[in-house]
Amino acid sequence: MNICVIGSGYVGLVTGSCLADSGNNVICLDIDKSKISSLKKGKVGIYEPGLSSIVERNVKSNRLNFTTNYKSAIESSEIIFLAVSTPPNEDGSANLDYIKSAALELSQYMNSYKIIVTKSTVPVGTTALVRDLIATRTDQDFDVASNPEFLKEGSAINDFMFPDRIVIGVESPKAEKKLKELYEPFMRKEFRLVVVDIRSSELSKYASNAMLATRISFINEIANLCEKVGADIESVRKIMSEDKRIGRHFIFPGLGYGGSCFPKDVKSLIDIGKQNSMEMELCTAVDNVNANQRVNFFKKIEEHFKILKNKRFALWGLSFKPNTDDIREAPSIDIARFLIGSGAKVLAHDPVASENFKELFSDSIAFSSDNYNILRDCDALIINTEWSEYKQPDFEKIKNLLKTPVIFDGRNLYNKQKMKDLGFFYSNIGFYPENGIK
Ligand SMILES: NC(=O)c1ccc[n+]([C@@H]2O[C@H](COP(=O)([O-])OP(=O)(O)OC[C@H]3O[C@@H](n4cnc5c(N)ncnc54)[C@H](O)[C@@H]3O)[C@@H](O)[C@H]2O)c1
Repeated sequence: MNICVIGSGYVGLVTGSCLADSGNNVICLDIDKSKISSLKKGKVGIYEPGLSSIVERNVKSNRLNFTTNYKSAIESSEIIFLAVSTPPNEDGSANLDYIKSAALELSQYMNSYKIIVTKSTVPVGTTALVRDLIATRTDQDFDVASNPEFLKEGSAINDFMFPDRIVIGVESPKAEKKLKELYEPFMRKEFRLVVVDIRSSELSKYASNAMLATRISFINEIANLCEKVGADIESVRKIMSEDKRIGRHFIFPGLGYGGSCFPKDVKSLIDIGKQNSMEMELCTAVDNVNANQRVNFFKKIEEHFKILKNKRFALWGLSFKPNTDDIREAPSIDIARFLIGSGAKVLAHDPVASENFKELFSDSIAFSSDNYNILRDCDALIINTEWSEYKQPDFEKIKNLLKTPVIFDGRNLYNKQKMKDLGFFYSNIGFYPENGIK
């Protein structure tokens, strides 16, 4: 099939390259000229395990191409995916400017029947809006569909190739048939393709992300309670996860969720409720708990040192989670801002996300490609992201390099008793504090 994917970011590029890999001819389109020019040279530009090789393979076989030219891309495609960004507005609502502008732009080149599919995460009613916008500009026959993406950064290729489910929201049997055919190669192992109405499809993405975010905020609230009552969140979490109805996923306490999806999708869901005269009370609480989690962590640091001015802090981990260079809404951003705002000096390490962090903080943070280098003469090490390489570090080396053996661990990587035995002041999330119950 001939496919166009509009928007060549994390989702668009993965979608385009995976669909090319299953034998389709795919054109990835973006308005960002430098991104397209880099992609044409084989530079993927984002850190996503396995993506470079799949892009390279499909470019070589000429099934995957990149362009900034709407006319040629739309005219030659039958299925057109909208995978542009839907960032949050100031009030939490989803900014649909990119979706609308892509829809209007593509509508000029409708030369035959096409299916326009919203893959971006969009509020209920957006796919219908896309249909209405296109209809104002063309007399050509076309269908719209919703096909939200559930991939996770860091395992995006695997998630796309072996999805838990593929959701298709349609209103026409013709579009349903085509999309089922397109996704057939991804169903070989009996993965579920769920066909629903468009509005349910759109809402299912928000509901799924908000549910996962709820689990994270829930366990963080319980972790905070553990600190107050003198309980141990690891024990509590393990007991909870043994219950099959609860399960093990998404109940790890920490600095809270970040990234380009959960924070904006929870906020957008709250806004969707507001637009429909409904207060999303639970989602609002989930959002608040998440925001406070970063503040509470910083307060622990402040409480320990009393005065932060001129203190030096080493940050391990900048990306919002491991295996990605994405720092959007990462807790590390708030932690760095709090510290810098208090007059402290910040040094940072991340295996892949430092360049993105530099764009935000430029000269106000010192970076190193060696995670031990930044520890020298620091007052404390702060852990923001649970990268594997931080999980079993050389604690003696850390102790020797730090000015004082202090670790604030926002991801609960180490055993509290072991750290105490090694002579560290070790503060993490959801454990009885060293200086007693507050
Ligand atoms: N990143 C994820 O893990 C993830 C997972 C599932 C769903 N989503 C959703 O997918 C959508 C895209 O997310 P992303 O992370 O890939 O965003 P992104 O910012 O990485 O990429 C979006 C791309 O769209 C391009 N773009 C914007 N307007 C355009 C236009 N009019 N024409 C052509 N290109 C245009 C931008 O230049 C950018 O390259 C969002 O709605 C997001 O919520 C993201």
